[in-house]
Amino acid sequence: MKPLVVNPGGRLGVEDIVGREQEIRRYWKILERQGLVLGAERRLGKTHIVLKMHEMGQDGFVTFYQDLESVHGLTELVRAIYRSVEHQLSRVKKAKRRAVDLWTTVVPKKVGSLDLPDARNNWKGLLGEAVSDVLEAVDPADKVVLIWDELPLMLYNLHKREGTDSVIQLLDLLRSLRQQHGSRLRFLFTGSIGLHLVLRALRMAGNANDPVNDMHQETVPPMVEAEAIELACRLLCGLEHPPAEAEPLAKLIHAAIGGFPYYIHHLVDRLGALDREPTAADVTGAAEALVHADDDPAHLAYYHQRLASYYAPEEVRLALLVLNAVASQEEATSMENLLNLARHEQPEVREEQIRDTCLLLRRDHYLTLERRGGVTVHDFRWNVVKRWWKENRL
Ligand SMILES: Nc1ncnc2c1ncn2[C@@H]1O[C@H](COP(=O)(O)OP(=O)(O)OP(=O)(O)O)[C@@H](O)[C@H]1O
Ligand SMILES: [Mg+2]
Repeated sequence: MKPLVVNPGGRLGVEDIVGREQEIRRYWKILERQGLVLGAERRLGKTHIVLKMHEMGQDGFVTFYQDLESVHGLTELVRAIYRSVEHQLSRVKKAKRRAVDLWTTVVPKKVGSLDLPDARNNWKGLLGEAVSDVLEAVDPADKVVLIWDELPLMLYNLHKREGTDSVIQLLDLLRSLRQQHGSRLRFLFTGSIGLHLVLRALRMAGNANDPVNDMHQETVPPMVEAEAIELACRLLCGLEHPPAEAEPLAKLIHAAIGGFPYYIHHLVDRLGALDREPTAADVTGAAEALVHADDDPAHLAYYHQRLASYYAPEEVRLALLVLNAVASQEEATSMENLLNLARHEQPEVREEQIRDTCLLLRRDHYLTLERRGGVTVHDFRWNVVKRWWKENRL
């Protein structure tokens, strides 16, 4: 087994991106027929999944990867597309040579003209052209997948900087491009804010459309058990003092953390600080330390902090009420119990409010709903987040 160096939050080379095989197979299948919106909590591994797809490729597809996290405006978006496609086009084996040459000569002119005031008003035309130009440059037998990582964050920033209209116009334009080039153009959007939160803000501002309902939307699942154990094994083997038997410890790590690769990296990082071979007791200790550490290395406080960024004050109040109640219970919580616990804190709260809040918290990957022994119950999606909440917020 190839050892892997611990690197929580870093960008891994494609050979170090462990597993995700089932997800990748499934996403290619969906992209045959339509575009895809992938959501998940922060750090679950969305970017590394799409990077693996991009790097490994798939017959019949040509991909262009674009990180939109730092894009704040519409002309910046057009510029970023031209630049990144120009950069990546030379790697496309089946690109048409002439079209590539044309693209390379056209880019400086177009990107330069974006600085002119009238070009700023013409971003729609330029974006449409950029997409047509990419399709033109690639073999017509291939589909073009534009992978736009952190699109919701870009929309969120755009909303703040350029207002509701710009975001709506952009989403409408992207939709019409999908319709216009339906047989060959696919978008793959990924994001951790949740596109639904951006769309909700737009709806509040009076736009009732659902501009991505022609795309398939999915939540990225945790890593499957075998792959999470493989990741833990490879990380353990990469330690300065690797355990003689990595697999039993890797299994313990999976039992403590689940299939969350970022937390697996963090836990093994703590084991690496021991200066000796880690033991089973060390795994338990390191899992506890992730929850208790003053410096919060795994950024678990983010689950609390993000509420204030994306929820209205009344929603924050209700979300805290529900999360505190669920965290206070050892087992998963029935709605009846949840209502009792919430009313104990705030007697005036209505059942409808609690149900709506649970729905929102499920869409935002805090809670899951399951059926156990004939009763539907809510619990935290991640036990490590539940333990953090219990220890730090109750
Ligand atoms: N398949 C994998 N194999 C090995 N490590 C992984 C894998 N997926 C994720 N990781 C680890 O988890 C970290 C976070 O992954 P990634 O950046 O892909 O998550 P994300 O969901 O895109 O996060 P964000 O929402 O913050 O953009 C990576 O830096 C890496 O350390
Ligand atoms: Mg990412």
